[in-house]
Amino acid sequence: MHILVTGGAGYIGSHTCVALLEAGHEVTVLDNLCNSSAVALERVQEIAGKPLAFIHGDIRNPDDLDRALQGGADAVIHFAALKAVGESCEKPLAYFDNNIGGTIALLQAMERAGVRRLVFSSSATVYGEPDTVPVTEDAPLRATNPYGRTKLVMEQLIGDCCQAVPEMGAVLLRYFNPVGAHPSGRIGEDPAGIPNNLMPYIAQVAVGRRERLQVFGGDWPTPDGTGVRDYLHVMDLAEAHVRALEFGRDQAGARAINVGTGRGYSVLELVRAFEQASGKVVPYDVVGRRVGDVAELWAEPALAEALLGWRAQRGLATMCADAWRWQAGNPQGYDGP
Ligand code: NAD
Ligand code: WQD
Repeated sequence: MHILVTGGAGYIGSHTCVALLEAGHEVTVLDNLCNSSAVALERVQEIAGKPLAFIHGDIRNPDDLDRALQGGADAVIHFAALKAVGESCEKPLAYFDNNIGGTIALLQAMERAGVRRLVFSSSATVYGEPDTVPVTEDAPLRATNPYGRTKLVMEQLIGDCCQAVPEMGAVLLRYFNPVGAHPSGRIGEDPAGIPNNLMPYIAQVAVGRRERLQVFGGDWPTPDGTGVRDYLHVMDLAEAHVRALEFGRDQAGARAINVGTGRGYSVLELVRAFEQASGKVVPYDVVGRRVGDVAELWAEPALAEALLGWRAQRGLATMCADAWRWQAGNPQGYDGP
């Protein structure tokens, strides 16, 4: 298939492009590089040994979208979005404009081009603070911040479009906590500024870019008092997209599917696993809880196995080893020497 990948230069997008090229698909990336580097795409092509087409443009710009869909795409994978929870509380309009406005523009361009297949990057954030874990897809949906609200609204917009156009099909992949990197160490997560998320923060402490990790809360109702999450290797997640495309070929309507391992690890378990994988000490201080956090969140991934034939293959040690290979080889990310 020929796939348009919006946001394909980003963390999850770049790893998914490798998986798509390796599965024999043709890839066009549309990305405005607002949170990524074109170097990632050079390295994707180097790893896969195959070329892709890159359009430097914005999903809110109809001309850029028409150009990207010109060659005739069979499906779109839609990663392009702003994703920082804290920033979304300070700049909600920027998030509504980019994420919701961008998704509307994309759906309009798909309609113009007659493209009916979509795989959408949703998030476990749509479950807010869940009543029980593991979380199943029919759990109540609630947004607890503007970023989460954009994901919820985008899911609903896509659902409405699928209702209106019977031939349209969408897979809404609700990712839990993607971490790690391609095993080559050539592509990985390269957050701008201070990392918001745990794994890149730990990796930057281990490589000497930051002094100490702050552990947000040691008094959660969890076995060791620190927060528990469902960490998922980014290459497992990339492969879930390839499966979702295949599943989406004959699927009508919008289908939400959790993408997680079904197992949670605490912050301190992740720190210890990273120390083992890297041979580095990760000094930390336990500080107060972060506003908006929940004690524990992990997926019920049975639907992904039933519908996509997908289940996570890589464990925590591999996630840490691959994250470390990327960080050690690229201490300053893509812009480094
Ligand atoms: P990322 O920031 O690395 O990638 C997003 C890409 O989209 C970037 O390359 C950015 O330049 C591009 N982009 C943003 N706005 C754009 C626009 N208007 N036009 C064109 N390109 C634009 O983020 P990521 O971690 O790879 O996340 C990808 C998707 O997965 C996002 O939709 C995110 O909300 C979702 N998601 C991420 C996580 C996570 O923990 N990383 C978890 C759940 C869901
Ligand atoms: C994991 C655990 C923190 C940083 C976020 C978004 C979510 C989704 C995935 C996009 C928690 C603790 C973290 C640190 C810490 N993204 N922590 N010190 O919060 O589960 O999910 O990313 O859709 O929407 O909210 O991930 O990596 O930030 O935190 O102790 O410096 O690590 O409290 O328990 P989170 P995270």
